[in-house]
Amino acid sequence: MDLWLSEQQELIRDAAKDYAQRRLEPRAAWRDETGTFPAKEYKEMAELGFLGMNIPESLGGSETGVLAYSLAVTEIAKADASVAVGMSVTNMVAEALTAFARDNVAKKHVPAICSGDYLAGAFALTEAGSGSDAGSLRTTANKVGDDYILNGAKIYITSADHAGVFIVMARSDRNQNGPKGVSAFAVPADTPGVTLGKKERKMGQHGSSTLEVLFEDCKIPASHLLAEEGQGFKVAMMALNGGRVGIGSLALGLGRAALDFSRDYSLERKQFGKPISTNQAIQWKLADMATTLDAAELLVRRAAWLKENKRPFTKEACMAKVYATETANEVCKEAIQILGGYGYVKDYPVERYYRDARVTTLYEGTSEIQRLVIARELLNEVQGA
Ligand code: CAA
Repeated sequence: MDLWLSEQQELIRDAAKDYAQRRLEPRAAWRDETGTFPAKEYKEMAELGFLGMNIPESLGGSETGVLAYSLAVTEIAKADASVAVGMSVTNMVAEALTAFARDNVAKKHVPAICSGDYLAGAFALTEAGSGSDAGSLRTTANKVGDDYILNGAKIYITSADHAGVFIVMARSDRNQNGPKGVSAFAVPADTPGVTLGKKERKMGQHGSSTLEVLFEDCKIPASHLLAEEGQGFKVAMMALNGGRVGIGSLALGLGRAALDFSRDYSLERKQFGKPISTNQAIQWKLADMATTLDAAELLVRRAAWLKENKRPFTKEACMAKVYATETANEVCKEAIQILGGYGYVKDYPVERYYRDARVTTLYEGTSEIQRLVIARELLNEVQGA
């Protein structure tokens, strides 16, 4: 793995940083307060090529690669993690459609995502009764002639109210209870029978909307099947492998923002007649925050590099996700400690970082699921299973 970035990757990282600090950071606290989805900013990100970064130019993508995408997500997250999650999920949806949709379906929806016509793509896997045990989902897809009829309800769907297309996992074989009976579909948001349900009130990431989505006798042409019937669970897992690189990159950005802010604060803040940065207690915190974030960055980069180079990366994506997200939580906690009471009030951003970080060990697979996958892969390597 090459640790040095190419000139193009540096340019993309700098463009993302410039955009994020200029256009996203100044209103991040306001979005957090008001729960406003930044529709205009999504259009701008599409214009910059940020909504289809690993998509071929022939489908409207910017084809910058996985590493550049990871760097861009990190920069966006430094400014506003709630925007970075929508960016990450939208890229994941565009990639899964590119990889698994029939030609005409990919050609219709992927360019619309990349150009910002859709604002977002959404990934509908989770249900009230199936979170970590995703293979037990109960939304049904019954084949009737050349169509599938979808019925069921999904929860916690990121950007559902702004998505032009959903990837929906549904049970097409009622005789199979687990992952094998699941198929995946591209479902245009304007399909009759698709409605939005409850909008979640969350601890953080308020600039990202999270909703329930209902499917009632929703007729989907068989051409909208992704991969083959019964392959939907694997489609979802393969999409999530890439998604987890995105969430690791996001968590890294949040952690870096918290470190930068608390470091600068420690240089300014005087107690007992000297800057608190001169205290060893603060220095050790900063040292640990910086060290663990660098370790997280290396894991994220490795996972991105493996994916970019078309090598197996399931285990490495889970390692990057679990380590970067848990590190972000710890770093944000320590940043608040450095700021003391000022860390707990909304005048400073670390309070928001802390709340925004909390969900990162939950969505796209909890830390416990990441560890389960890592352990399975590790054991399979020696058992040859
Ligand atoms: N990559 C590729 N294939 C995978 C895979 C992966 N990561 N994980 C499983 N598979 C394959 C398996 O190889 C297996 O294939 P075979 O049938 O050929 O053997 C098949 O899928 C079934 O896998 P398992 O037998 O391992 O299934 P399981 O039910 O025991 O457990 C799990 C799978 C890892 C626990 C999985 O259910 C999981 O990842 N759960 C977490 C779900 C999750 O991440 N949800 C996030 C919601 S989306 C979201 O948060 C997005 C957002 O909006 C922010």
